[in-house]
Amino acid sequence: MAFTKKTVRDIDVKGKKVLMRVDFNVPLKDGVVTDDTRVRAAIPTIQYLKEQGAGIILMSHLGRPKGDGPEPELSLKPAADKLAELTGFDVKFVADTYGDEAAAACAAVKPGDIIVLENVRFLKAEKKNDPEVAKKLASYADIFVLDAFGTAHRAQGSVVGPAAYLPAVAGFLLEKEVDTLTSIFADPERPFVAIVGGSKVSSKIGVLDHLIDSADTLIIGGGMAYTFFLAKGYKTVGTSLKELDWVEPAAKMLEKAEAKGCKILLPIDNVVADHFGEDATGEIVASDAIPEDRMGMDIGPKTIELYCDAVKAAKTVFWNGPMGVFEMDQFAKGTEAVARAIADSECTSIIGGGDSVAAINKFNLADKMSWISTGGGASMELVEGKALPGVEALLDA
Ligand code: 3PG
Repeated sequence: MAFTKKTVRDIDVKGKKVLMRVDFNVPLKDGVVTDDTRVRAAIPTIQYLKEQGAGIILMSHLGRPKGDGPEPELSLKPAADKLAELTGFDVKFVADTYGDEAAAACAAVKPGDIIVLENVRFLKAEKKNDPEVAKKLASYADIFVLDAFGTAHRAQGSVVGPAAYLPAVAGFLLEKEVDTLTSIFADPERPFVAIVGGSKVSSKIGVLDHLIDSADTLIIGGGMAYTFFLAKGYKTVGTSLKELDWVEPAAKMLEKAEAKGCKILLPIDNVVADHFGEDATGEIVASDAIPEDRMGMDIGPKTIELYCDAVKAAKTVFWNGPMGVFEMDQFAKGTEAVARAIADSECTSIIGGGDSVAAINKFNLADKMSWISTGGGASMELVEGKALPGVEALLDA
């Protein structure tokens, strides 16, 4: 499915002021950006707008502040500094979003200037999509650009609001993300193998359901596998993560997959431990023989072989969610093996945000993937087939 909204290419921005919502929700440590992926991802649109002679006003949220005023540790200044460092552009940070200081700074923006406003979420009304917020933000500029893919699933003031008052178009990142994450399901090169991990069936039920409709093989790993074991009728999963309310829906999912001809692969062996902790040591057991006092921490070696063989045979791979507790080295083998199998394959590989991205970065495999989404929740909603409010609000192409 092609992108159906107008983009920055479709609008004349020369000499205009552009208000651009980016997703600079980046991890910080001691006031320094520790992963600049999201800042980098916004640069092509910023560069384009600057080259076209627009004045650029950037805004974003960072974290989840209370909304009662500034919280210095969630200031966007480090992200603004990172943008300046990465581009070499003069980037002015404005420590205000909705007040006189912000209004004056926006009024002073000239073609080619770049300013970054303070965290939009320092005001509660932003998250509620208060029209006053939208009007205020829209008053700063002539055109609204949404490039914050990671936040496009939030119907919040800075994401959807300005589109009610200004011509609103997409930036390049938003366009590419939506295009990539929708076309993979519309017409994947087959075999199409989807890999879903992570702890809970409940949080990914919509994604699993959608993947069964389009994938040839669906690989399940991580904590959610244990609920599927119960759905298959295994007597116990020991002290592993499980969602008893979701055993029945998981069983229905298995039935649906069978009816649709989507092959589901579940772990056949697991690495288990007697407790959850850095000092825990693993032992390998068959999936249908997990001792009562053990919890699953990773997929086992036979499962790794099974999953990697499926990946090797794939022409398209979609991956979201780790295979085990990859943050602890002793339980990272399954996630690392799957990541390496994808990296070594010639397939088109789409990584759907969240923890799988952290895993890929941990194993230094980012440049081996075809596309790594910058959105966690947003990419999952898109994969579920949901419309993203931020995208919906833009002008139709
Ligand atoms: C994200 O990190 O997924 C986005 O920036 C959205 O953040 P939010 O979940 O706090 O809205």
